[in-house]
Amino acid sequence: MPKLDRVILSALLVCGAFTLPLPSHAADVRKSGNSCVHCHSRLPNSSFVGARSHSWTGSIHEKHAVTCDKCHGGNPGAPEQKEAHAGMLGSSDPQSTVYYKNIPSTCGKCHGAEFYKFTQSRHYKILESAGKGPECVTCHGSMVTSVLTPDTIAAVCQQCHNERMGTFPYVPQKAKAVLLLLTESSALLDAEAKLHHPAEGAEQARVLSDARSSLHSARLDWHKFDLDTIIADLQDVYDSLKKLSPKSQHR
Ligand code: HEC
Ligand code: HEC
Ligand code: HEC
Ligand code: HEC
Ligand code: HEC
Repeated sequence: MPKLDRVILSALLVCGAFTLPLPSHAADVRKSGNSCVHCHSRLPNSSFVGARSHSWTGSIHEKHAVTCDKCHGGNPGAPEQKEAHAGMLGSSDPQSTVYYKNIPSTCGKCHGAEFYKFTQSRHYKILESAGKGPECVTCHGSMVTSVLTPDTIAAVCQQCHNERMGTFPYVPQKAKAVLLLLTESSALLDAEAKLHHPAEGAEQARVLSDARSSLHSARLDWHKFDLDTIIADLQDVYDSLKKLSPKSQHR
């Protein structure tokens, strides 16, 4: 059936296009003359502003062309400092896009799903009312956008969850254990996906895709800080993967 062949061939070509590494925009950004990046990259590291600016370099945001103006505002087309900074406010100004209370909605413009979960959390309510509690930058850093690991998470939670302050002192150790479980589930899923090529059957592809979507839920549920829900999501990942086990023993 030549027609079907052609359909399969074009499907393969489309898939191939998606698996190609995305082109890096970093070089384009520098060349395109985004004035913020251009001028700030030349500020000395010894100044506060220079050092903060350089911390963006090499971040995942740089790689995806998320330039300074995307979070700070201002006019990236204006070469002079004064015009470029027009409308941009420092982080201590309550009207600023990077004032700590406004950070979640600034990040949320692009990370809507994480932002939505976050607004459902107790932390968000406390941030809104008392003005304390973690927001995106507490865990991810402002420009480097690191992602917490099981080794680094406990110290972050401990800033507020400890015996001295008395608010849920068990949280740091539990958070560490749950993040470890999340990391391991992700590695296990990757390993299983390599063993079971989707072409082996629609059933296996479906099971793998179920496991992936449960893992995705676990990542999002982080942002609500409901540790027990994350554990339940991860249980779903294992339950899905278990359905693959009998096959993998034959290999
Ligand atoms: C021609 C050079 C130049 C351009 C263009 C420029 N900046 Fe700056 N920027 C500076 C200098 C120098 C400072 C630090 C000294 C100062 O505050 O005047 C600074 C300070 C800042 C600060 C710290 C502000 C504060 O109140 O602490 C931020 C944030 C910032 N710039 C973001 C941007 C963004 C976003 C853009 C693009 C829309 C941009 N800059 C364009 C030179 C520039
Ligand atoms: C993904 C969003 C994001 C991007 C992109 C980003 N920043 Fe920031 N930046 C922040 C946030 C949020 C803060 C304030 C929170 C904090 O103190 O960590 C901040 C703080 C700063 C500060 C400290 C001064 C202040 O107002 O607190 C400077 C300077 C700065 N950024 C410059 C830059 C420059 C220059 C770029 C581009 C090369 C850039 N930023 C890109 C989010 C971003
Ligand atoms: C203009 C859009 C935009 C804004 C605003 C933005 N991001 Fe991103 N962010 C991206 C893109 C694009 C990526 C890379 C692709 C992806 O993972 O979705 C990314 C990736 C990330 C990652 C994944 C890092 C990794 O290693 O996998 C984190 C964490 C992150 N951003 C946090 C933040 C935080 C915190 C803020 C606010 C301070 C923010 N982002 C603001 C567009 C944005
Ligand atoms: C208390 C800590 C914490 C806070 C606060 C937090 N995050 Fe995260 N975030 C994490 C952890 C932990 C992960 C990584 C989970 C993993 O290993 O995949 C993550 C992952 C992410 C990712 C990558 C998701 C992926 O699929 O790879 C994005 C994007 C992100 N966070 C955005 C945000 C935004 C936006 C906010 C603020 C509204 C925020 N985070 C607040 C801890 C936090
Ligand atoms: C800046 C302070 C601060 C940091 C950092 C912080 N928390 Fe919290 N957290 C709070 C406060 C305040 C409460 C609310 C206590 C109350 O309800 O009286 C809370 C409540 C909680 C709760 C119970 C919420 C509920 O829905 O019942 C959990 C779970 C939690 N935090 C997890 C974490 C984790 C995990 C981290 C680290 C990744 C963390 N927190 C970091 C301040 C913080």
